[in-house]
Amino acid sequence: MKDIYSGKKILVTGASSGIGLEFARILNKYDCTLILAARSRETLEKTKQSLSMNGLAKISCFNVNLSRLEELETFYHSLEEKNLIPDILINNAGKQNYGYFHKLKWQDEYNQIILNCLAPIFLIHKIVPNMLKNNYGKILNVGSVAGTMPGPFFATYAATKAFINSFSQSLSGEINNQNIQCTCLLPGVTNTNNFWDLPVLKEKIGDVSRFTSAYNVATYGLRLLEQNKEYGVCGLSNKTTQFIKRFTPLKLLNFALKKHNYSNLLEPK
Ligand SMILES: NC(=O)c1ccc[n+]([C@@H]2O[C@H](COP(=O)([O-])OP(=O)(O)OC[C@H]3O[C@@H](n4cnc5c(N)ncnc54)[C@H](OP(=O)(O)O)[C@@H]3O)[C@@H](O)[C@H]2O)c1
Repeated sequence: MKDIYSGKKILVTGASSGIGLEFARILNKYDCTLILAARSRETLEKTKQSLSMNGLAKISCFNVNLSRLEELETFYHSLEEKNLIPDILINNAGKQNYGYFHKLKWQDEYNQIILNCLAPIFLIHKIVPNMLKNNYGKILNVGSVAGTMPGPFFATYAATKAFINSFSQSLSGEINNQNIQCTCLLPGVTNTNNFWDLPVLKEKIGDVSRFTSAYNVATYGLRLLEQNKEYGVCGLSNKTTQFIKRFTPLKLLNFALKKHNYSNLLEPK
């Protein structure tokens, strides 16, 4: 990998498990400052301990619920106070709710929108001026292939990912130059247990270990960043789906996806 990381302050949200943890593990090989954010203080501390034993990075942890707007503000102020405004921002934390939209709890849907959409763009909005001042900055937003097509039974999740995919492309049109870059990573289903940790999802997806590893997704994402790419779909099968989808009428796509996404454990309509 190309070393664009040494000497940099790098914020990874959702760094305590899954893809975020893999970003942290890979970046821990460099002499950088890693700023890790997630809700669970305990898991973050464990992550910090295990990373500190095996790497070069200096590690700071912040336990913050990024679904809460007031915590987002406080989090950003703490970064400012501690002189930890990142040079590289990896907006990774995200969650998905699953079920008939009208049956899902409104509060959960709301939290999902804040976490997947507002938190990343809040951080970007705060941090980009600093990047422009320093004439250096990289942003990696974790979108999803789910945001490129309909998502029956995870309609809000798919919409939040469409938001972040689209936002990233537009922002890169505004700010990208040789030193400043906004990149969007689009993984497909990835082998991360927490993300799929609901009985209804487990029944649907089965054994997640057959899917792409979180390590591969994180490595691919960082490579996009290093190569100043604006956008990247991870994995050949996801790239192929993107191609086929272009020629598939919406009705047919929705029919197939409804069948594909349906779980026997779904509540009746
Ligand atoms: N896994 C997939 O199949 C897949 C596919 C496409 C895209 N993605 C995207 O990839 C990203 C990472 O997914 P993943 O599978 O690695 O998820 P994961 O294993 O569930 O990890 C999510 C991370 O985010 C943190 N987090 C969750 N809610 C949070 C909140 N409200 N505030 C702060 N931190 C929070 C979690 O820690 P705490 O619980 O301690 O807060 C954890 O560190 C997400 O944006 C997801 O949409 C995943």
